[in-house]
Amino acid sequence: MLQRSSTQASAEAASAGGLRIALFLEEESGNWHVRRLAEAMRRRGASVVVTSLPRCAFDTALANGIDIPGFDGQLPDAVFVRSISAGTLEQITFRLGILHALRSSGVRVWNDARAIERCVDKSMTTFLLHQAGIPTPRTRTIEGHEPAVQHARTTKLPLIFKPLFGSQGKGLLRIDAVSDLPEPEAADNIYHLQDYVPPAGATFEDWRVIVTRDRVVAAMARRAGNWITNVHQGGTPAPFETPPEMAALAKASIAAVDADYGGVDFIRAPDGGLLVLEVNSNPSWRGLQSVTDIDIADAVVEDFLSAVRAHQGVRSCQA
Ligand SMILES: Nc1ncnc2c1ncn2[C@@H]1O[C@H](COP(=O)(O)OP(=O)(O)O)[C@@H](O)[C@H]1O
Ligand SMILES: [Mg+2]
Repeated sequence: MLQRSSTQASAEAASAGGLRIALFLEEESGNWHVRRLAEAMRRRGASVVVTSLPRCAFDTALANGIDIPGFDGQLPDAVFVRSISAGTLEQITFRLGILHALRSSGVRVWNDARAIERCVDKSMTTFLLHQAGIPTPRTRTIEGHEPAVQHARTTKLPLIFKPLFGSQGKGLLRIDAVSDLPEPEAADNIYHLQDYVPPAGATFEDWRVIVTRDRVVAAMARRAGNWITNVHQGGTPAPFETPPEMAALAKASIAAVDADYGGVDFIRAPDGGLLVLEVNSNPSWRGLQSVTDIDIADAVVEDFLSAVRAHQGVRSCQA
C-alpha cells in the first residue's frame, strides 16, 4: 500500500522525530533527488544534514574516529547514500572505507558499502544473480584482449561489451565481429561480454523497477529506436505496471546483492523469459517519476526510516 492516511503519516513523523540523518549527495551534480529525499525525511520528522562523502574524514582526534560535517564529532543515527561521488581508485576506496566504518560503528547505512561494491562491479552483480538462480543473459568477464577474442570466436555474435563500472548506457558496445572488441587501453583490460538479447519487434524495450526490501516502489518501460534504452541516451519512459513475476525477481535481485533498495533492469529473451540486466545501488528516478503518480522519494524514505527505526530497536535491546 503506497497511499498512507494522514494519521499514519503523522504517527510515523513523530516516531522519526529525533533521528539524525546524513544524506550523502553527489558532488558536481544536480540536487533534484537529494532535495526530494531530504524533504521527505523532514516531513516525517527526521533532522537531515545534506553533505557528501568527499567532505567526510577519518580523524584520530575524535573518540569515534569519523568526522561527518554537521555532526560536531558525533555520529548520525543513519546515513542515506545517494552517491559516493566520482573519484580516483584511492578516493573511492577511502569513501567506501568511511561507509564500512560507519556501519561497524552501529550507524544504519542505506545502501551500505558492501552492496554498493557489489553493484558497481557488473561482473560481481551478475555472479551473485546467477548464484541466486536469477536469470541473466550469458555473461563472461575476463582480463585481456586475447581471452576476449577467444570468447568472441567461440560464441554466437553479437555480444555486448560493457564497462565494468559503467552506468547510464555509457561506453556500451555491440560486438558484431571479433575486430569490434575494444583495445585493452579503451577497455581497462577487462572484458565484460554479454550475449545480445534481440528485440521482439521493431522497437527496443526494457524495464526499470525501483524496489526496496519491502516492496516494488515504481516501474517504467523504456523504449528506443536503438538497443540502448537508457533515458540518459534518449530512451523514452512509459508508464508500466509491474507483473508479479517481475516484482518477485526484482526483490530477489535486491536480496542477492544484499542491498536495501535499488533499480533493477529487465529485458525479455526471445523465448519470453525475463532476464535481469543489472542492479543499480544508487538509482536515479527522474525519468521514472515523470510517468508515475507515486512519489518515489517519499516511498523510498518511508522504507528507509522504518529500517532505521528497526535498527534503533535492535540496538536499544542490545544496550
Ligand atoms: N545483453 C543485452 N542485450 C540487449 N540490450 C542490452 C543488453 N545489455 C544492455 N542492453 C541495453 O543497454 C542498456 C544499458 O545496459 P545496462 O546493463 O543496464 O548498463 P547501464 O549501467 O549502462 O545502464 C539496457 O537498458 C538495454 O537497453
Ligand atoms: Mg541500466
